Amino acid sequence: MRLTDLPTPALLVDLDVLEANIAHASARARDLEVAWRPHGKTHKCPEIARMQLLAGAVGLTASTLAEVRAFAAAGVQDLTWALPVPVSRVGEALDLAADLAVGGGALHLVADHPDAVTTLDAAARSASVLLKVDCGAHRAGVDPLDPAAIDLAVAIATAPHLRFAGVLAHAGHAYRCRSRAEAAGVAAHERDETVAFADRLRRAGLEVPVVSVGSTPTVAAVDHLVGVTEIRPGNSVYHDAFQVAVGTCGLADCAVSVMATVIGRHPARDAAVLDAGTLALSADPGPRHVDPDCGFGVLLDLAGAPIPAFRLVGLTQEHAVVHGPLTHGLLPWGSRVRVIPNHACLAVACHERIHGVRRGRVEVTWSLARGW
Ligand SMILES: Cc1ncc(COP(=O)(O)O)c(C=O)c1O
Repeated sequence: MRLTDLPTPALLVDLDVLEANIAHASARARDLEVAWRPHGKTHKCPEIARMQLLAGAVGLTASTLAEVRAFAAAGVQDLTWALPVPVSRVGEALDLAADLAVGGGALHLVADHPDAVTTLDAAARSASVLLKVDCGAHRAGVDPLDPAAIDLAVAIATAPHLRFAGVLAHAGHAYRCRSRAEAAGVAAHERDETVAFADRLRRAGLEVPVVSVGSTPTVAAVDHLVGVTEIRPGNSVYHDAFQVAVGTCGLADCAVSVMATVIGRHPARDAAVLDAGTLALSADPGPRHVDPDCGFGVLLDLAGAPIPAFRLVGLTQEHAVVHGPLTHGLLPWGSRVRVIPNHACLAVACHERIHGVRRGRVEVTWSLARGW
């Protein structure tokens, strides 16, 4: 099938870039001497999960039970649900964990609150639980310097129906960095805080099998990961305009784009309109701290070459407004373009399927595990 046979908006993945990104992430984990448990929230795609396993992933990370179910059905035996378990999903999560255990697999759950530990222990027969650590993102996780953090780890380890699997941190604040060098600083801090906390737990008598860290900017930038056992980069499978702006990768490393059609032209105001709004790209504002004019993504022609004179300045539900010189017949009505999204994870989550493209042709179409 040709690209032009697809209706728009359509989510595309360049298969050559995808394969290179997977090989690169796997090699990076080998170089850092840690296990690789990529976060599947970025792709939500069972086929890509299998590619990652074949490339050496020890298992996957998931952000929703829909992903857990889809990855488990695709043969991923070892999964971490990296969201502190909501009370409304405890039963379902434990059932999925029990199903995986039958085949020798596991679903590791995450907690950061004493009530969550009590609730899980009351409902579980035997559950593997990681303690979430806040190393500066100030989203989820215990403060590793607070003595209550050690008490919570001990509570998990001594709960009759729980097994303390270790500690898990995510330096989401790396996305506030302006450069790879800054991300290296955040990565070193994430590593040092998490490893030091794991050591304190060991001195308190606990076994800490897993010390899990990682995001795409920190894994790309970090100098070493001594003391860490596994990394969980997600975005690196695709990359996006944000990663390019903060120096994680180049534009040629971005695997995902949204194909759109020019549905309007307004030369008097140098504007064209595309059929890919927030429901196709997400409304992620992008790396404005690095480039205030970044807009909502990077515009490419259908073959994938950047059109640097154009900026995607506005999005509404189904419309995108592009500004640039509409001279020399650029962006004719009905023509197609591609947009590298600001945030691949959010753009992918807008779509039910993704089309794998090689040499300008659609080679495969994969369904995505959306929802919760
Ligand atoms: C808990 C957790 N781990 C790992 C990741 C992967 O980070 P990235 O997408 O930067 O690779 C995320 C992403 O949000 C996350 O929330």
